[in-house]
Amino acid sequence: MTQKRKVKVAVNGYGVIGKRVADAVALQDDMDLIGVSDVGFDYRIRVAAERGFPIYASLPDRRKLMEEARIPVAGTLEDLLQKVDIVVDCTPKGIGAKNKPIYEKAGLRAIFQGGEKHELAGYSFTAQVNYAGALNRQFARVVSCNTTALCRVMHALHKQGWVKRARAVLMRRGTDPWESHKDGMINTAIPETKVPSHQGPDAQTVIEGLDITTMAGAGPYNLSHLHYAMVETTRPVNVDELRHALWEEPRIAFIRSADGLVALNAVIELMRDLNRPRNDMWEVAVWEDALAADDREVYLTFQVHNEAITIPESIDAIRAMTGIERDASKSIEKTNTSLGIVKTLLPRTTPEAAVHAAMGVALRAARKQFMEEGFKGAEEPAEAVPTKAQAK
Ligand SMILES: NC(=O)c1ccc[n+]([C@@H]2O[C@H](COP(=O)([O-])OP(=O)(O)OC[C@H]3O[C@@H](n4cnc5c(N)ncnc54)[C@H](O)[C@@H]3O)[C@@H](O)[C@H]2O)c1
Repeated sequence: MTQKRKVKVAVNGYGVIGKRVADAVALQDDMDLIGVSDVGFDYRIRVAAERGFPIYASLPDRRKLMEEARIPVAGTLEDLLQKVDIVVDCTPKGIGAKNKPIYEKAGLRAIFQGGEKHELAGYSFTAQVNYAGALNRQFARVVSCNTTALCRVMHALHKQGWVKRARAVLMRRGTDPWESHKDGMINTAIPETKVPSHQGPDAQTVIEGLDITTMAGAGPYNLSHLHYAMVETTRPVNVDELRHALWEEPRIAFIRSADGLVALNAVIELMRDLNRPRNDMWEVAVWEDALAADDREVYLTFQVHNEAITIPESIDAIRAMTGIERDASKSIEKTNTSLGIVKTLLPRTTPEAAVHAAMGVALRAARKQFMEEGFKGAEEPAEAVPTKAQAK
């Protein structure tokens, strides 16, 4: 069998997101990390040198400064762009927009991050929702951490036809850990006065037709965001159905306060104990014991590790845009395996897979029984079984 050519990838901007994307690309057997580019010369970019990643200067006038700081600079961003098939732009909000003409001039595909506007790329991406639409596109934007989490959770419900109207409250982290000495807040919380907050409309750029409104605020903590979602449903949905729909959705994992996972810090401590790189939690962590439902709505509480959650999305976007994998589920699976993304965080002591397999059989049987009761087509050749679209 001939080995497929590996996709050559550049990462521009080696900060919170860029350094993680670079590590994730380096793990893939169908990608080569050709280099990373930045304008900094502090400890963060020096780590790229320790990793052995070729380093480029994103702005020509920064090259001298970087070299004076003993950073081994292999060339400029333009030099790097000539060697790759695709660039993942992980620069701060607004810089991606300035970089787009550079990528266009180089005739390159580019992935932007959630700080950039939807219009810049014209396509907002969450792998499990709209991978197919990104196939062979020149530009796409991986949506922000909050929007990615909303898209995963809402997609689990929306694809069942359950979402009549969703509302979510987002309690954002005040700052990122690496810069918590210079930014953030103490002993306060800051409500965002823009309503709806940006993430609801942003999720609609990914999930067409989703009726969602979000409100946001920020507090004095830096490990993750916390979301509360209330979803008015098109029919009464019970907790078992809700739990099972979330189980079947990739990149969502359950956590339980009954396991001592009672707060954001406890969940990140679990990531530390599981030896995850940089404590990263790529999954949306949904509190299973906080799931609730009544006749009109379902209620969810979930944790979003903002530094990590979008990383697998960039990897899948590379595969989709370069066309090296046309099947979303294959790419998602490959990325999940390479990074260590799981459905069950503590599989030896939590037999979730078996429980949900049994639950799935029971739910399907119950559904079939109701379907048979409502099916009055004895004279037709059709059976009372879900259509393909319903079985999804
Ligand atoms: N931090 C998060 O939680 C988070 C989560 C999801 C998405 N995002 C998005 O990811 C993008 C990057 O955010 P971040 O948090 O990684 O930022 P960051 O500040 O941690 O990193 C940005 C990096 O880009 C470098 N940089 C600055 N100007 C540059 C230029 N002109 N050319 C090349 N490099 C330059 C900086 O030196 C830094 O290393 C933004 O769009 C942001 O909205 C951030």
